[in-house]
Amino acid sequence: MASAMSMKASPVHPPKITTVKALVESTGSSSIPSFYNFTPYLRDEPIAGDAEDSIPIIDISLLVSGTPEQQSQIIHQLSKACSDWGCFMVINHDVTESLTKAMIASFQEFFDLPEEEKKEFQGNHVMDPIRCGTGFNPSMNKANYWRDFLKCFAHPEFHTPNKPAGFSEIAREFSKRNREVIIILLKAISKSLGLEESYVEKAANFELGLQLLAANYYPACPEPEKAIGIPAHYDHGLLTTLVNNGVSGLQVKHNEKWFNVNIPPNVLFVQVADHLEILSNGKYKSIAHRALVNNKATRMSIALAHGPALDTVMRPAPELVGNEGDQPAYVEMTYRKFLELQQTGRLSSKFRSDTEQSKAVRAS
Ligand code: OGA
Ligand code: NI
Repeated sequence: MASAMSMKASPVHPPKITTVKALVESTGSSSIPSFYNFTPYLRDEPIAGDAEDSIPIIDISLLVSGTPEQQSQIIHQLSKACSDWGCFMVINHDVTESLTKAMIASFQEFFDLPEEEKKEFQGNHVMDPIRCGTGFNPSMNKANYWRDFLKCFAHPEFHTPNKPAGFSEIAREFSKRNREVIIILLKAISKSLGLEESYVEKAANFELGLQLLAANYYPACPEPEKAIGIPAHYDHGLLTTLVNNGVSGLQVKHNEKWFNVNIPPNVLFVQVADHLEILSNGKYKSIAHRALVNNKATRMSIALAHGPALDTVMRPAPELVGNEGDQPAYVEMTYRKFLELQQTGRLSSKFRSDTEQSKAVRAS
């Protein structure tokens, strides 16, 4: 940690750069400023070969309109996907490819707005319903991430910037359709845990659940091996859905190795997040993931975090807490409190070794 004196002497961050996009467009240089260096993330980290294993695929249409046998087969597949991997690819859902394309195009238009106009939406607090910005986190005194973002609360109240034209309508439809997929999955996941179908929705008060619509913008990076888009972390909701613009970069950690995730255009990639881990008392674990950057093309991804209601106390399902005097594995807390603790770095980390961010508080 730098002393007060030396911190005063050397500004860590050039004050003029507001986004990575602006930096890239203004310099066009072949190297990156040193404050984007993030080399430690590559150390001692095995990468899986493509043929090694593959991410489970869930045909959601069979959950909705399959025979009872097909439904129970998919529930079984979901159970395996959530416990072995913590992520899966959903096919045959109702988030159409054209809607996803329109959403990506609309976010692109947002990022293309003049820097001055985007500044209007520059929130500072996690609870700001609209917040755009860049990867720099001053409180962590760490390298900048090679990523700009826009985050909007889409549920229970819907917020989006009032520009570009049409953005709000597309975002509303996109968020709604993703939410419908999640409701189907939460019912099946409840059953896969041996719980009543509406268990997770009720326990999380999902009707008032916080849904966060986030777009990540990763410009092509002249030195991709030095920078990082987003370092390893876990998402904090129940489940996250993710799509991208056909440029890869997402990796998930499975069996101590990093796997590249290539998301086909009509597929929703779904990740188990911390609050499903908490509700399931650790039976399903949130998955560590990160975003790498490349030197060829701008990557965009859209992540929707589907979380509990902010003021509902979240705890492991009593049915899943062992009956031989075992304690629940996680401390009770509202989602709001969890987010606040995570922001201020006061959440104790379960998997310190592979993540920069914190993980669910475990009961000790
Ligand atoms: C995130 C995230 C990964 C990606 O936004 O939380 O993990 O592929 N994004 O952009
Ligand atoms: Ni994430």
